[in-house]
Amino acid sequence: PAPGWSIDADVAVVGSGVAGLTVALRCAAQGLRTVVVTKAQLDDGSTRWAQGGIAAALGEGDSPAQHLDDTLVAGAGLCDEDAVRLLVTEGPAAVRRLIDTGATFDRDDAGGIALTREGGHHRRRIAHAGGDATGAEISRALVAAVRAAGIETVEHALVLDLLKSPSGAASGVTLHVMGEGARDGVGAVRAPAVVLATGGMGQVFSATTNPAVSTGDGVALALRAGAEVSDLEFVQFHPTVMWLGPDAEGQQPLVSEAVRGEGAYLVDGSGARFMVGQHELAELAPRDVVAKAIMRRMGEEGSEHVFLDGRHFGSAMWAARFPTILAACLAHGIDPVRELIPVAPAAHYASGGVRTDLSGRTTVPGLFACGEAACTGVHGANRLASNSLLEGLVFAERIASGVAASAAAAAPRSDLPPTHHPAPVPGVTPAEAPAVPTGSATVTPDNGDGRRVGGTQTRGEAASADPAPGDHLIAPEAKAEIQRLMTRGAGVLRSAESLTEATTALTRLRREAKPDAEQPCVETWEATNLLLVARVLTHTAALREETRGCHWREDHPTRDDAAWRRHILATLTPDGG
Ligand code: SIN
Repeated sequence: PAPGWSIDADVAVVGSGVAGLTVALRCAAQGLRTVVVTKAQLDDGSTRWAQGGIAAALGEGDSPAQHLDDTLVAGAGLCDEDAVRLLVTEGPAAVRRLIDTGATFDRDDAGGIALTREGGHHRRRIAHAGGDATGAEISRALVAAVRAAGIETVEHALVLDLLKSPSGAASGVTLHVMGEGARDGVGAVRAPAVVLATGGMGQVFSATTNPAVSTGDGVALALRAGAEVSDLEFVQFHPTVMWLGPDAEGQQPLVSEAVRGEGAYLVDGSGARFMVGQHELAELAPRDVVAKAIMRRMGEEGSEHVFLDGRHFGSAMWAARFPTILAACLAHGIDPVRELIPVAPAAHYASGGVRTDLSGRTTVPGLFACGEAACTGVHGANRLASNSLLEGLVFAERIASGVAASAAAAAPRSDLPPTHHPAPVPGVTPAEAPAVPTGSATVTPDNGDGRRVGGTQTRGEAASADPAPGDHLIAPEAKAEIQRLMTRGAGVLRSAESLTEATTALTRLRREAKPDAEQPCVETWEATNLLLVARVLTHTAALREETRGCHWREDHPTRDDAAWRRHILATLTPDGG
């Protein structure tokens, strides 16, 4: 089935956060025809919501080696050390290039970049902007630069599936576009290089810091295209998300770790500090340690939240240093100058994602992944605070260099074989493609030696497989049920029992879906993508029978290096189930 319209490009970038826009800018600067497609507007992704900042060894006395050490400790034995080394050594220059691109960071009295601390960092190394509006400033600067460079963009474009050449290489993406004039409806961007920078999947849980657009679309697309995903069980729960009541759902206000970095502390219902003595860094212990301590204290007290105490900052500091958080508190009737802020952990970051090598290449030739959608290996079992914006920057630049080098080495486009064979798009031509082409997850424990990537893998030809029974578009109403199931079964605390319950219910949702019952639209695709990533996540979380980093198994409460110092890879097979 032919999409209704198409654009030809050298590189199609899907997503417009720090990763996507940086790839686009660097590709365009090297003369590549670059098209950015994004689900909402250019600045609507997670990047805009990042508060604390971007970590890099920029301060006096700091070094990439110390940043490396802190990252490896937080990652709980599962970081890829080569990937982390690249991150921390290329990071400082990448931040400076971001400044050259137009981002303005807060400065200290001497005119240097002001640096704060966050959990797991032994040094002040977090650069920030607008106090606590770092992501908003980065997004503003990158969007302005992309516009100034005249890079072609398509907004309100939900990515559907990967287009593949007969050889199995990426050749573009199909899109569902709303309200964009001539480009309305289902279309395609055809390009020999496709970069997934679609962000995270926080919306798979009921309460998350992620915006509504974070529905795992890139990971779902990659799975359907036969790519490997890795480490999906490692969902980071941010310890201090404003608690707005037991029924609060969707995106919740973050209270940045930088608030603790500047000296706020956690107290329980009786006003007692409970992090002191639990870890040498107390409130600034790595994020998983703090989240677990909060959950334990909530369990002991029978409460639904603890409190963050920043009253001693005073009103001038709250206004100058944390204007965004102050405004969010006041909007919810909390005055942090006089009152404690109720906080509890909520889903925040997917440490896993589409598996890549050090150049961002996935296991499907021509398909790259970057930012939260990717699993480059830098985060291991638990991302170190503020490493995500840095990862987006550093690996985006690496991808752009790789794409430009292969474009330069490739034959002229006119010599390329006709490679455009669109993947089936559900609902577009129902007779030929009536269903979502997904299969079941197969999970492969990997001993970690060797990253089997770089275009040699052809596993999981899911995008062209016969649809398995039950693989149909899911009703939008299923989204809330998926979120409740995942929060209950695969949230901060997990067990074989809770994961089995979630898996059973998710499988039922999949089996109950009927062919052609749902209209293809953003809501049905999002629900379908959420169901797919939820199924793989529960599957991998059930397999990992240990507690490590942000994966916390009540029934396997200790870390088991002998059995589990390795990654769980997942791909789809076309056999249903
Ligand atoms: C925060 O500001 O606490 C979030 C930073 C991060 O997730 O890296």
